[in-house]
Amino acid sequence: MSEGYILKKTEKSLPLNWYFNQNQFDKEIRKVLSKEWLYICHEHALSQPLSFHTVEISKFNILLVRDKDGNMNAYYNSCSHRGSILKKEKNGKLKSNLLVCPYHQWSYNASNGNLVKTSSIIDPKNFKKDKNCLIKVKFKIWNGLIFINLDNKAKWNSKKVFPDYSDAFSQLNVSNYQIGHTWKKQIKCNWKIFWENYSECLHCPNLHPELSNLVPIYGRRLVDIKDDPNWKRFINHDDPKYKGGMKKGTETWSMDGSAQGHRVEYLEKQTDFPGYIYMTSWPSMFLAIFTDHIRMVRILPLSNELTEVTAEWVFRKETLKDKKYSMKNVVDFAVLVMKQDAEACELNQKGIHNPIRKNGTLMPEEYEIKRFHNWLRKKL
Ligand code: FES
Ligand SMILES: [Fe+2]
Repeated sequence: MSEGYILKKTEKSLPLNWYFNQNQFDKEIRKVLSKEWLYICHEHALSQPLSFHTVEISKFNILLVRDKDGNMNAYYNSCSHRGSILKKEKNGKLKSNLLVCPYHQWSYNASNGNLVKTSSIIDPKNFKKDKNCLIKVKFKIWNGLIFINLDNKAKWNSKKVFPDYSDAFSQLNVSNYQIGHTWKKQIKCNWKIFWENYSECLHCPNLHPELSNLVPIYGRRLVDIKDDPNWKRFINHDDPKYKGGMKKGTETWSMDGSAQGHRVEYLEKQTDFPGYIYMTSWPSMFLAIFTDHIRMVRILPLSNELTEVTAEWVFRKETLKDKKYSMKNVVDFAVLVMKQDAEACELNQKGIHNPIRKNGTLMPEEYEIKRFHNWLRKKL
């Protein structure tokens, strides 16, 4: 009998109306997205004093800003006068340590959110400046990754945020990495559809021929060697199609498979490093460690049927400094795969609107989707 992870029987998927019903979506925002740690960006995106970054999560709009002294703050991006957005740009740099509302120019201290000045001729006696500060949002910078939590009482626990945390990550000094490229896409699907697609490889050979060539076990529609009930038979097999890992002669997830002389020494020394390590943080992100770079992918719902996906490629400084290093080689490869996935997610979303069945079916290889559903149901 298999000691692997695969499901021993088929399971029902979530009710299909959970992927478009507005009440269900509101409940998920209230009970999940408003309670869990949500990834925003790598610290390098806000490395300069006075730099800011905004992010939307459904109806929430959050503003992260580094003040003049380099300290980070996070606020709801909404003015206390009549509620206008303070910063409409996705990112930028303040001219001074003030956050000035674009509507009637109330100004706030970027270091603490205190209201500095209104624009009225007088401030009436009953007007309390200290009752009109910006509202703070809890945040955490962990290994260079910035997370927020809309629940002010939330406590950070890295093992809970990343249940599949890998020790390799803490050895890499990721806070010193720099962003080489960022890519964004709005996918017309519910956020759960994205995660389900991420969680299985049944679709790999037909949707991702290039990736299945680079990681041969994916071509067998498997993620892990133990996904095959007969895995023990292949335990001493040298072929990556059976033992996992990357195709012989390749080094990293790139168009031609090469890392162009930038393999991270620490990873190279790890005998069990298969060429990629994934770490997942439901509901907002996953990251993947490759031989020469790390890719962070942020998943945030804009509405019940629209999800924004943002990918950041981070590299060691020396890699980015090397003029001969072609970042395009790794970026193009991941974009190709992410676009293939996005298209499948949109087809999936479109199809579930047919009012013909209540649930889908999970097959043995879709154990990770089952885990995701269990996690979600527990939160709701
Ligand atoms: S809404 Fe911001 S100053 Fe009026
Ligand atoms: Fe995929």
